[in-house]
Amino acid sequence: MSDLETQKRPPVWKRKDVQQTGILWVIFTLIIGYVVSEFQVRTIGAPASSVMATTIQMMHVFTWAAAPIAGLVAAMAATTLLSKHHYGDTPPEDADHEIRNSPRIAAAWIVVSALMCLFAVVWGMIVLQQDSESILDSKAMNINVVGQQWAWNFDYIDNGTVRSEDLYLPVDKPVVFHVTSKDVVHSFWIVQMGIKIDANPGYVTETAVTPNKIGIYDLRCAELCGLLHAYMQKKVHVVSQTDYDSWIQNQGGQA
Ligand code: CUA
Repeated sequence: MSDLETQKRPPVWKRKDVQQTGILWVIFTLIIGYVVSEFQVRTIGAPASSVMATTIQMMHVFTWAAAPIAGLVAAMAATTLLSKHHYGDTPPEDADHEIRNSPRIAAAWIVVSALMCLFAVVWGMIVLQQDSESILDSKAMNINVVGQQWAWNFDYIDNGTVRSEDLYLPVDKPVVFHVTSKDVVHSFWIVQMGIKIDANPGYVTETAVTPNKIGIYDLRCAELCGLLHAYMQKKVHVVSQTDYDSWIQNQGGQA
């Protein structure tokens, strides 16, 4: 099209369909951002460690960063579907290609997504670092974890020879889990504490956390490991140091 024709047409933001898309974009962004971040928090439950608190913050930020993209796609789809025009394979002469052909928009998009990726990588590495710090903590207690089809066993090696199918942890005390498996690959995941590590036969992997809230949490297997994988779950009991000591004594160990 010639320059003259471009000048005759109203600017793109004054067009009705573009304005409608803009309004829908804002609405969809708010709905998607709010619903998805609420859904995450409600399905996971309140965090029981500082690592998990940071992880939830991170999920919120990433959700709100992604919501405008999802919102824009939904808004454009809605505008298109609600439009009464249908040109089929023969679009009108003045069909717009302003966005597709704009080097400025392409450059802005590449820079923005690169910055977002960089931010995600750096923040992710900081959180992972925080996660593994307590492995080196000399005050940390140690528990050996053995996964097998389809159960978990815990050896409380700092408290004598206590082996239990129940996981009890004292609050506010760093704990290092030394994780392995008897048969196939499992994955040791304490949902509300934000820790997850594979349990491999023949190897010991380690993960650490400091539970910071008394309560009952979920331990799940996070690696497809056979018929009853979905039932390879346990409750994690975080209790006061006194309650922990009496529990361990009941199991025949020393506090
Ligand atoms: Cu063990 Cu899935």
